[in-house]
Amino acid sequence: MSGFVITGRILDPISPGCTSLTWSALRIDDHGIIAERAEEGSNAYNDLCKSPGTISLSADSILMPGLTDLHIHAPQWPQAGKALDLPLEQWLGRYTFPLESRYADLDFAACVYDELVPTLLRNGTTTALYFATIHEEASLELAKSCLRHGQRGFVGLVAMDDPQLCPPEYRNSSAAAAIEATRRFITAVQQLPGNESGLVQPVITPRFIPACSDALLQGLGDLARETGVRVQTHASESDWEHQHVLSRLHCTDTEALDSFGLLRPCTILAHSNFVTHQDRTLIRNRSAGLAHCPISNAFFAGAVLPVHKILDENVRCGLGTDISGGYSPSILENARQAVLAARMLDSGTDPHVSPQSRGAPGNRIDFQEAFWLATRGGAEALGVPTGQLQTGMTFDALEITSGRSSLRLDLNENGPTAAQKIVCHAGPENIARVWINGRLIRKE
Ligand code: GUN
Ligand code: FE
Repeated sequence: MSGFVITGRILDPISPGCTSLTWSALRIDDHGIIAERAEEGSNAYNDLCKSPGTISLSADSILMPGLTDLHIHAPQWPQAGKALDLPLEQWLGRYTFPLESRYADLDFAACVYDELVPTLLRNGTTTALYFATIHEEASLELAKSCLRHGQRGFVGLVAMDDPQLCPPEYRNSSAAAAIEATRRFITAVQQLPGNESGLVQPVITPRFIPACSDALLQGLGDLARETGVRVQTHASESDWEHQHVLSRLHCTDTEALDSFGLLRPCTILAHSNFVTHQDRTLIRNRSAGLAHCPISNAFFAGAVLPVHKILDENVRCGLGTDISGGYSPSILENARQAVLAARMLDSGTDPHVSPQSRGAPGNRIDFQEAFWLATRGGAEALGVPTGQLQTGMTFDALEITSGRSSLRLDLNENGPTAAQKIVCHAGPENIARVWINGRLIRKE
């Protein structure tokens, strides 16, 4: 890999409330890191533009950071857009566990994963945090698929051993067996040929507290401390799930995960709609983060995550598609839905209630905040130096082209207007090129 210079209009999330759009030049070094950034009009910019082989984007294009999907179940891809008629606990038993149990078949797994990863790349997802299944070899296929297509992948072998919730054909035979499988999986991913740069990482993945025994949760917490590997799970997703944990462990999901040693730096808690203020303080203090999954929440949560409050409290947060609780593989589609859901939480929804008491004012988010969640928010939660096109960051980026589908970007856009138009309108047809780790991995 050799370095290069790229110039054009760069849209960058500076903070949740601030997005910049400037004509700039970036120099990417041999390791895919942004070694230099200069703004138009400066001597440094002029010097950079003289570099041989400079990529000059046209005025129709905008360069922006790649998107992070902070919560996705790769094996559920075949049922995306189906089977959303039941509450979470019935949906798992009726549709999802039977589908996931099919991944004992390695050919089926390889076929699905090798279609999903390019689909996500077409949608601009440069980093994905995946749940796979309980099958070691099939889950390794997902890691291989990320490597083959050049995607930054965080892959979790799912652990679930509770015989009350998990069917006999789809559960780990014991806590010890699940912990040993996770240990083997961590080594297997780290040693995959072609993964010398660590583009793909293993993740410790207890499915959620209701599916796991105390012994499994404690064992995986110990393994996380021993190996330093990241953790992901679901937390406080629905009334049923939240109450289940309260009555079994007499504390919230967040407190329980902390007591098992699973709430660690870069631990990602999916959904977390019912977390308390105290939970959020604990999550922030542990440098863990939340994956907001607004489309899925419309079906299973029965509530809207107060994401404005979460950002206000400096809790790390990004967006997840939650395929297939959410039907869309697009993080931009989820960013759109995050804005809409927050607006409805703010205004309220029942026309029979007076406007004064209908909603929960103060809960809106704007499109810049959604843009932040989709880019830097997710990357920051995961502890990855991407999501911003600034010096020192790794170059994971998208070229967005205007004039296709309904996206019309003018020459007089600024940061907030460009972020809003992209969140509202951009789809795969607008994503012309995708770079990950400084490598061009997709070109239309
Ligand atoms: N909780 C436990 N497993 C799942 C899952 O697969 N999807 C969602 N949305 N919630 C879960
Ligand atoms: Fe999920």
